[in-house]
Amino acid sequence: MRPISRRLALQLGGLGLLSAAVGGAGVTWTRDGLLVPRAGEQLAEPETMRSEDGLLRVRLAAAEGALTIGGRRANAYGYNGTLPGPTLRLRPGDRLQVELVNRLESPTNLHVHGLRVSPADNGDNVFVSVQPGQTFAYDYRLPEDHPPGVYWYHPHRHPLVADQVFGGLYGAIVVEDPDELPVSRERVLVVSDITLDAAGRVRPPSRTARMMGREGELVLVNGQARPMFTARPGERERWRIVNACAARYVRLRLDGQQLDLLGIDSGRYAEPRRVEEIVLATGNRADLLVTATEGTSTLEALGVDRGGMFGIGGLRGGSVSGDVGPLATLRVTGAAVPELPAVPVLPQSPDLRAAELAAHRRLVFGMGMGMGGGMGRGGATFTIDGAQFDRDRVDQTVALGTVEEWTMVNPTPMDHPFHLHVWPMQIVAEAGRAVNDVRRQDVVNVPARSEVTVRIAFEEFAGRTVYHCHILDHEDDGMMAVLEAR
Ligand code: CU
Ligand code: CU
Ligand code: CU
Repeated sequence: MRPISRRLALQLGGLGLLSAAVGGAGVTWTRDGLLVPRAGEQLAEPETMRSEDGLLRVRLAAAEGALTIGGRRANAYGYNGTLPGPTLRLRPGDRLQVELVNRLESPTNLHVHGLRVSPADNGDNVFVSVQPGQTFAYDYRLPEDHPPGVYWYHPHRHPLVADQVFGGLYGAIVVEDPDELPVSRERVLVVSDITLDAAGRVRPPSRTARMMGREGELVLVNGQARPMFTARPGERERWRIVNACAARYVRLRLDGQQLDLLGIDSGRYAEPRRVEEIVLATGNRADLLVTATEGTSTLEALGVDRGGMFGIGGLRGGSVSGDVGPLATLRVTGAAVPELPAVPVLPQSPDLRAAELAAHRRLVFGMGMGMGGGMGRGGATFTIDGAQFDRDRVDQTVALGTVEEWTMVNPTPMDHPFHLHVWPMQIVAEAGRAVNDVRRQDVVNVPARSEVTVRIAFEEFAGRTVYHCHILDHEDDGMMAVLEAR
């Protein structure tokens, strides 16, 4: 075999073809000192753990060690030795008990992102800190009317969240429908990103990357690089897509196939909506129906302009959340299957636009260059209402059983995806214009120099929890605050 020139290697690497070209020789070529993954393997899914008789008990051990990423041996974080961790499947009304074992060298904890469960005690309590070598027993009780949908889990130990999630700690949670939808199969697709050096170790982000929100060079589906999978013509698949990236937004397309969106986060639409593409901010999930048409289609992640500063970022000025290209390949082949029954229409979910409001709050995001003592590790300060996170300060107190309207004002030049724990938000206005359908999400993107208004029904759960920017570097740098419901 003729040696490959550096120039050709760079070209092939840029095209994502390098590992295919040299795969037979078993050589790990590197581009800019980065690991080149083995692409095109058969899609694998994380192990599934399912509740039985209303209970799911799992042990999740967070550890750093050898695992497989993009078909290569790497050294990163994982739950139970895999990236992503196991998929937890629950039903409304279930109890979930997680024994979290911390085998990391830093403290950690667990957040069940999007689940409507208590934030107190050993529930979804982000103030818990599990020290290295220690174990913590979480106990979550899902209400009987918990919305079905796709959720996820990840660490939430301030201020280590970006390092731990980017390093590999995340997994999917599915809350099943009371009646299964007529589909041929379901797939869980966890999209994440990471940067690995040639030896397969996680490369720490630069100061600038922290300020913008770190984005990995490798964008993975279920820990794999451009995996391949197949379906037969006419089959209807239900894809549960999680954007587990620490900061990256993705715009997903699957040209040549029919896409019907069931909902984003926990907000199922009454009827599926035909779409061409889906934009997921970090933390968002999509519940998507794919009706297979003969041919080969590429799941692509295209760029999203989430702003920038000082000429960094934005689709014109830089590479922040730019085009990734192919994420996976779907080959539709074989004999067509008989047509499936239509997806039943859901009874309309509650619409908070008609609700009586107990309060209106304005939250103002801020961002500046290291003024005063609160310099973030990225060289910038990130604030909500002029303050950085303080776990001992309660920023908002809400009355249980009321509905409030919140306007998030973002005067900064970057988008910030706003996440509230426990209670979903219904988007009622964007940039001052009313939204005229029901959209319920737990991560709501607030575009640069714009604002978004949501309504929240503070039901059921007393206690203290948080709201924050889901660009995890911003959260770690202080763009988070405390809410108490009582
Ligand atoms: Cu999250
Ligand atoms: Cu942010
Ligand atoms: Cu959070």
